[in-house]
Amino acid sequence: MVDRFKGEFDGLLGIFFETGLAGRMVCDPDGRIVRVNAALAGMVGANVDLSVGAPASGVIAKETRTHAWKQIFPVLTGQAPPKTIVSLLEGDGAPVVEILPMRLLERDGTISGLILRFADISVQRHLEAQLTQGQKLQAVGQLAGGIAHDFNNLLTAVMGAADDIAARPGTDPTTLEDAVQIRASAERGADLVRQLLAFGRQQTLQPRVVAINEAITQISILLRRLLGSKIRLELDLETPGRKVMVDPVQLDQVLVNLAVNARDAMLEGESTPNDRVLTLRSGHLLLLHPLVRGQETIPPGRYVVIEVEDTGAGIPPAALPRIFDPFFTTRRDRGGNGLGLSTVHGIVRQSEGFLAVESDLGKGTRFRIYLPRYEGETTPQPAPAIAPAAPKAVATAPPTGQRTVLIVEDEEDVRRLAVRQFTRSGWRVLSAEDGDAACELLAADDPALDLIVSDVVMPGLDGPSLVRLLREQRPNLPAILVSGYADEALRRDLANQDIVFMPKPYSLRALIDVAETVLQRSVDLVPS
Ligand SMILES: Nc1ncnc2c1ncn2[C@@H]1O[C@H](COP(=O)(O)OP(=O)(O)OP(=O)(O)O)[C@@H](O)[C@H]1O
Ligand SMILES: [Mg+2]
Repeated sequence: MVDRFKGEFDGLLGIFFETGLAGRMVCDPDGRIVRVNAALAGMVGANVDLSVGAPASGVIAKETRTHAWKQIFPVLTGQAPPKTIVSLLEGDGAPVVEILPMRLLERDGTISGLILRFADISVQRHLEAQLTQGQKLQAVGQLAGGIAHDFNNLLTAVMGAADDIAARPGTDPTTLEDAVQIRASAERGADLVRQLLAFGRQQTLQPRVVAINEAITQISILLRRLLGSKIRLELDLETPGRKVMVDPVQLDQVLVNLAVNARDAMLEGESTPNDRVLTLRSGHLLLLHPLVRGQETIPPGRYVVIEVEDTGAGIPPAALPRIFDPFFTTRRDRGGNGLGLSTVHGIVRQSEGFLAVESDLGKGTRFRIYLPRYEGETTPQPAPAIAPAAPKAVATAPPTGQRTVLIVEDEEDVRRLAVRQFTRSGWRVLSAEDGDAACELLAADDPALDLIVSDVVMPGLDGPSLVRLLREQRPNLPAILVSGYADEALRRDLANQDIVFMPKPYSLRALIDVAETVLQRSVDLVPS
């Protein structure tokens, strides 16, 4: 039967068979290979027998072979109509393929074999997986963002009240201690919110140019302490060191999270202290073609690569696709929340980088972070911690004498504390619970204003619109907008409008300091 096809592929049919990206195979009615094209030979592993007469099912990965062949065989015997199936090929990385079996019919209607077409859909699958991962994170991010907004308001109020108690003259030492404790706990709460926001990608990152080797060396001091004496930390840093544009605090958080996971995996395994090594490596990569790594497809470009490798227990293949999911943990009984890697993923993504993982069960795990290389020549201005561009403003009041601030904040407790703090610092204070109320107040008795401090998100007129409206009458009015929930786009937008952004929660002291700075700047800019 195999001979039946000999010579038939020499003409046009042969050209059609051989060309194109799809893999093709002809098999006889017994399911034995008659011919394969070069594309299929390139898709399967070198160990697969493609010789004439070998079983056709051998090209399909072992774990899916029986299942796939059960669907192909009835097409060959005429019991089922041809239909596409999705399966894995035998070979490196088990490429995902769509297989379309087509019958070869004789004139009398008998089936003399199949032409199988194999289309590699691995990249498409990767992109789909990436999309789902992105959507999952987005959903959690939105939820986290919503909570963070309210929660930051509460924390600002809690911290403010604690500061207030502590600053009150004559507070007894026990109360003072409690106030300090309350503040510390509220700060821990704020850290948690920041962590939640990081993987929701709503966090306000403050990227700057970071020399990667220096950053790794610096954080290694802390990591040594975290890892303890039972784990050796090794640095393997490529010179010359490269630069990236990231938020250095977030980069530290990424490395700490990965190191803590590695520590846990190494201490839980069977390894002896001598085998427990965490290696931090730096390197670079020039990509000319997209690179598929797990669920990520990394576009061509120049990258700085950071590797965090451990000799721990490894990650079972079944768990591997889930480790970046928020709340996925195998360590719940030991206090794991499953937020570490989602945070890492969120930060890396937000820094326009990529994250990949490889793991060998029982041997160890290697995380790789690909960050776009910073190519700028000069060291640019570090992003200002709070303030964007200096307002090109003229102060409406001289630096001496009482200044007036308008505070607009819908959260009553936060507003009350802010009013008190500004008053204490010698300001005249007007306050309103939202944008509309602020407009009414100003319409009633048109006071001179030196500064507006407002929430971004409010019912009715929002912060940025309020500032725009006020500046129609008072051009260049210095403005500070506060929010617990702002993405980079909003921050940039505010910066372009000469509005200073301040993330919540903030301490009242910091707010006053920023207010003074903003005002001082605008006064400095008064033409002499
Ligand atoms: N280096 C590693 N070696 C082995 N398994 C790992 C490693 N890193 C992560 N994992 C696995 O991935 C899971 C998720 O990690 P992740 O950091 O997100 O959460 P966690 O460490 O369990 O909890 P949390 O970080 O919130 O305290 C872990 O529970 C563990 O099963
Ligand atoms: Mg963790």
